[in-house]
Amino acid sequence: MKRILTGDRPTGKLHLGHYVGTLKNRVALQNDYETFIILADLHTLTTKPEKEHIQKLNENIRELMLDYLAVGLDPEKVIFYRQSEVPEVAYLHLLFSMLVTKERLERLPTLKEVMRDLKIANASLGLLAYPVLQAADILMVRANVVPVGKDQQSHVELTREIATRFNSMYGEVFPIPEALVPKGYPSEGTLVGTDGKAKMSKSLGNCIYLSDSTEEVKKKVMSMYTDPSRIHGNEPGQIEGNPVFIYHDIFNLNTGEVADLKSRYQKGAVKDVEVKEKLAAAINVFLDPIRKKRAEFEKDPKLISRILEEGTARARAEAETTLKLAKEAMGF
Ligand code: TRP
Repeated sequence: MKRILTGDRPTGKLHLGHYVGTLKNRVALQNDYETFIILADLHTLTTKPEKEHIQKLNENIRELMLDYLAVGLDPEKVIFYRQSEVPEVAYLHLLFSMLVTKERLERLPTLKEVMRDLKIANASLGLLAYPVLQAADILMVRANVVPVGKDQQSHVELTREIATRFNSMYGEVFPIPEALVPKGYPSEGTLVGTDGKAKMSKSLGNCIYLSDSTEEVKKKVMSMYTDPSRIHGNEPGQIEGNPVFIYHDIFNLNTGEVADLKSRYQKGAVKDVEVKEKLAAAINVFLDPIRKKRAEFEKDPKLISRILEEGTARARAEAETTLKLAKEAMGF
């Protein structure tokens, strides 16, 4: 069976953008691949090394695991593990760091974005090397496929370069992994934020979380950004690129209702309020089963540590094997 490795930084709860970008794919693929999911806690240190943030990791990991289980990732099939419990990854990161130039890392769009969004003037060595650590995560389990959102594609590209370089210098140890990014309208693997900004992102504060209550969803949807040039419900409005309609297309399963709303919107025969009320209802229909499952899993306080303990043992065994193969190939 081919292998998947993917994961997230435990920085808090997951949102609809994560669902569209990668969770949906992960759930679909878990039956066909041996799937490893990493809770990449060491990666959070690249922007949040302070102790106050480290103290939140346990709680964040719990929330992240509950989101995973709630959307339908199955612990019988998926191997979940915590990055900091697999120290071999740091060794592999060191070996890989010799195969990448600092200029190559400086060119990555993700670095520029993080520095801009978090107003970081000078990148630490760790932040610059973030994608090399990610390559070590992926190659540590010798993964074949990496389901990620579009924003992470450049990191998988770098991982491919590192694997290719390693193999040609020392011998075939690593498969060359493929990124799996959702294609096509409406998402292209990225979901616009409720404020109309290009990307739903925690740091931009424009998210609807998978664990938001019915009321929270309603409140967020009612204040969503729509067509800014349309002031009254009797003026024709723009559908393309309009976040409320992008969300309708993704989350509202009642396609007849969506088509009706669109045609009335273009004619100026519907108010934003109605479009939004129907959207909030549709998102709540989508989230309801996820909320129920989350509540179910929350009842067992030991469940998550049990899943992580087992998963970490599996991942660690894999890591030891890989590191041994890599060092042997290098001639140590
Ligand atoms: N960089 C990813 C993110 O910020 C998280 C991550 C860490 C990851 N290691 C990974 C994703 C390995 C895929 C594969 O979302």
